[in-house]
Amino acid sequence: MVAYWLATVLESSKVHQNRKEGIQVDYTTDTKTEYLAEQLAELRTQGLFNTIRTIESPMDGHIVIDGKKVLNFCANNYLGLANDPRLREAAKQAIDKYGIGPGAVRTIAGTMSLHVQLEERLAHFKGVEACITLQSGFTANLATIPALVGKGDVIFSDRLNHASIIDGCRLSRAQIVAYEHNDVDDLRKKIAETTEYGRRLIVSDGVFSMDGDIAPLPALYEVASEHDILLMVDDAHGEGVLGRGGRGIVDHFDLHGKVDIEIGTMSKAFGVVGGVVAGKQVIIDWLRQRGRPFLFSSAMTVPDVAACLEAVELLESSDELVQRLWSNAAIFKKEMAGMGFDIGHSETPIVPVMLGEAQLAQQFSRKLFENGVFAMAIGYPTVPQGLARIRVMNTAAHSQDDLEQALAAFQKVGQELGVIQ
Ligand SMILES: Cc1ncc(COP(=O)(O)O)c(C=O)c1O
Repeated sequence: MVAYWLATVLESSKVHQNRKEGIQVDYTTDTKTEYLAEQLAELRTQGLFNTIRTIESPMDGHIVIDGKKVLNFCANNYLGLANDPRLREAAKQAIDKYGIGPGAVRTIAGTMSLHVQLEERLAHFKGVEACITLQSGFTANLATIPALVGKGDVIFSDRLNHASIIDGCRLSRAQIVAYEHNDVDDLRKKIAETTEYGRRLIVSDGVFSMDGDIAPLPALYEVASEHDILLMVDDAHGEGVLGRGGRGIVDHFDLHGKVDIEIGTMSKAFGVVGGVVAGKQVIIDWLRQRGRPFLFSSAMTVPDVAACLEAVELLESSDELVQRLWSNAAIFKKEMAGMGFDIGHSETPIVPVMLGEAQLAQQFSRKLFENGVFAMAIGYPTVPQGLARIRVMNTAAHSQDDLEQALAAFQKVGQELGVIQ
């Protein structure tokens, strides 16, 4: 089987033709990359090869894939802003005024007034002293963690934290102590056991994206303040979702001024792209001096920043979209549980439909697609073996009819595959 896939991969990469120039490159003898072809073949054999679907329409509640219009329950576009006419218009107007790109990194080419405006608006929205924006939520973690702690320091990190937190921790070269997921007693135990340290940091996702559960932030704050440890939360899935009008997890728990660092992303509920770090002025000032992705990589583009500014404006002026998101999620959860599906213990609009084996989850996803619903199967290694699922991302972009159609598809496929009666 491996040999078959290897032959296919090698065959497909044999001749690369640059269409414009008519240059022909023969890669057949490229033995340097053979190990990659082998590993790709291995992924295919194990059923772990990631095939990415191509979307031929704007990202929205309905999308077009392979010419087929389907209901979209995959995107993190919680508020349906990715294709909102107000954000599109703001981006167009900003392009006319400022062009497209920032030219270089901000410390070298100067910073555009638009970026400064966004940081000020975000700080106001989140009720913090200051904010700094980065290219993505991923780079926000890579910028922040190594700027705060380094060799000789210790990071206490939830075992299920996102990959970008894990990578940020590794880059810092601090000692990483993983505590059991959302287990504050285990965190206390690990803190007591770790006696050698310079500085210390506790870091957790705010909302865990595979199960939709929320970090026990008030208890984490209690532990952090007892031991005088820096506290950082990555609110990627809480930004625009939790708290008053989508102000995030700190607002949700009314912990303003108590959490040292909040990471956010504008790629999910804001519907655009870009990362943000929010917190005390002194931390943000330090990141402008030492955050490596800030210093050595160009800023967000003009249309992105303008669209994000418009998203903040919308969230500050009305909580209608946030309410609709939660109401859609509540209907979906109630109906799914009523049909007999195991939907885990989500506290947010993320709904894991637990199926067990990866093959069943993949088959379920394929059948949903045939019935007009796009919802991804998630299996090992993203989630533990035997806990494969369909992860349903509810959004404000779905109407009552959309929800009914999706629920009918889940019922039909669930009965066909014997998951429910
Ligand atoms: C907790 C968490 N942090 C960071 C990110 C990365 O965000 P971005 O897509 O903006 O890089 C994600 C995205 O999945 C996430 O879930």
